[in-house]
Amino acid sequence: MKSQQKCIVIFALVCCFAVLVALIFSAVDIWGEDEDGITEDNCSRNCRVVLVENIPEDISFLDNATSHLPLSAGLYSLLDKAIRAVEIVSPLWLLNSSDYESSFQPAARQGRALLSRLQGLKAKGVQLKISSGMIDSTELKILAKHYAEVHYVNMTALTKGNLHSSFWVVDRKHFYFGSASMDWRSLATRKELGVVVYDCSCLALDLHRVFSLYWGLQYKDFIPSFWSKRLFALYNRDEPLELTFNSTKAQAYISSSPDVFIPKDRSTDLEAISRVIQEARHFIYISITDYLPLLGSRTHRYWSRIDGLIREALILRKVRVRLLISFWEKTHPLTFNFIWSLRSLCMEQANCSLEAKFFNPRMQRDGTVQGINHNRFMVTDRAIYLGNLDWVGNEFTFNAGAGLVISQPEGIEERNSTVVEQLQAAFERDWFSSYTLPGNGCKWMHHSTAGWCILK
Ligand SMILES: *[C@@H]1O[C@H](CO)[C@@H](O)[C@H](O)[C@H]1NC(C)=O
Ligand SMILES: *[C@@H]1O[C@H](CO)[C@@H](O)[C@H](O)[C@H]1NC(C)=O
Ligand SMILES: *[C@@H]1O[C@H](CO)[C@@H](O)[C@H](O)[C@H]1NC(C)=O
Ligand SMILES: *[C@@H]1O[C@H](CO)[C@@H](O)[C@H](O)[C@H]1NC(C)=O
Ligand SMILES: *[C@@H]1O[C@H](CO)[C@@H](O)[C@H](O)[C@H]1NC(C)=O
Ligand SMILES: *[C@@H]1O[C@H](CO)[C@@H](O)[C@H](O)[C@H]1NC(C)=O
Ligand SMILES: *[C@@H]1O[C@H](CO)[C@@H](O)[C@H](O)[C@H]1NC(C)=O
Repeated sequence: MKSQQKCIVIFALVCCFAVLVALIFSAVDIWGEDEDGITEDNCSRNCRVVLVENIPEDISFLDNATSHLPLSAGLYSLLDKAIRAVEIVSPLWLLNSSDYESSFQPAARQGRALLSRLQGLKAKGVQLKISSGMIDSTELKILAKHYAEVHYVNMTALTKGNLHSSFWVVDRKHFYFGSASMDWRSLATRKELGVVVYDCSCLALDLHRVFSLYWGLQYKDFIPSFWSKRLFALYNRDEPLELTFNSTKAQAYISSSPDVFIPKDRSTDLEAISRVIQEARHFIYISITDYLPLLGSRTHRYWSRIDGLIREALILRKVRVRLLISFWEKTHPLTFNFIWSLRSLCMEQANCSLEAKFFNPRMQRDGTVQGINHNRFMVTDRAIYLGNLDWVGNEFTFNAGAGLVISQPEGIEERNSTVVEQLQAAFERDWFSSYTLPGNGCKWMHHSTAGWCILK
């Protein structure tokens, strides 16, 4: 009888142990960390930030307009600085333009040049690590042959969405964050905007944690029930990192999406967007490819998360809002209805101002649209939010993306020009350029490949 009881106790203990082991192994963990020994206690907070842009050749702003470091130059500068590891996550890998594409788009060669620079990292003794949702990309297969380590994330199995995150982390010290993907068009025909940040290991360490989350999801077909401690966020919207950018004080943190990819302490993109909108006092400028507060593919439901915040800012806080939306072949016709609805909210209301414009690139003879504005950012009087996702309900619900918030404390008298002011200037340059159409007189016309905006 006694030995039977013993048996049961031992059996129970073994069961407990097995469950524990299973739990430990189901958590995403990372190995081989800490070669450089930088931790959140002794990381660098004296950072340098540079705004980088790709302005397509057929877009020209006035000579005196604000201009920034070309995206390709920013990325090359990161590759020049790399000593140990370059980590890249990108929604797309299509740097190798075809001969046909580069014959009529000379700038398309930039993609090939970047690809060969990436292939050359190995010779410099630099590790190239790529997380990707593209299971069957030929380009990634070629890179893997050139000693890149590629981890595939099966987003279909995890969230039924896509991996839309787009950033680089170099030696956990420098990083790129922005709208561009590893697609030759991002270096040639699409208007892209991002930042390159140097000597900023605190923030780079946190972005590296987002990368590590994707890295650890390689070929998993379920989301772990709890995340490793090494993926917890270091900073968030309630406890942002205090740092300096070009010797000027600022605060920053990284957000991410969707909700099921949020380890402890990480703010979601929607929380970040909502904080930035709520803290704006005077203006909110939004530059986005698509704006569509709808959820669902076949049947649509109104998705109020961002639309509601904008309404509150307009009505309750009298903040001036400008929306710059891209006008291209995939612009959803209902976009105009939602803009009209926002605008009508302000009718006959004192100090309520919503303006919308459409960035309208040139249509090429073959029907393709060049120079599409692929920017995804928001700038207010105090902060910027750079994101990877379009402002569409489905994006935030199913797709993986990340965001970077930088805010400038009020009342700093002596300071240099800040990234917030530079981004505001970039927005105003686009807003007042000859490539925008007023949103009020726009009527949607449909065509097999493209739409037109008819001015009334
Ligand atoms: C940072 O701190 C860790 C442990 O706290 C230590 O191992 C490492 O050497 C430190 N690195 C530097 C650059 O001071
Ligand atoms: C740029 O130049 C144009 C005309 O050349 C002028 O109208 C405009 O005010 C200038 N803008 C700035 C910011 O100096
Ligand atoms: C890029 O594409 C060309 C043909 O279009 C091919 O010859 C070349 O091998 C490709 N290079 C890589 C690195 O994929
Ligand atoms: C990704 O997940 C889906 C759904 O679980 C599955 O059908 C598909 O085979 C997986 N793809 C790969 C490459 O593992
Ligand atoms: C609108 O703004 C002006 C100036 O900021 C202010 O004087 C006025 O009282 C405001 N009106 C309302 C109705 O808030
Ligand atoms: C402005 O930047 C320069 C170097 O770029 C720095 O020496 C100076 O201290 C900065 N000024 C302020 C007020 O931050
Ligand atoms: C920060 O300094 C670099 C040069 O060191 C400069 O290129 C960049 O524009 C500055 N950034 C801001 C936001 O002023």
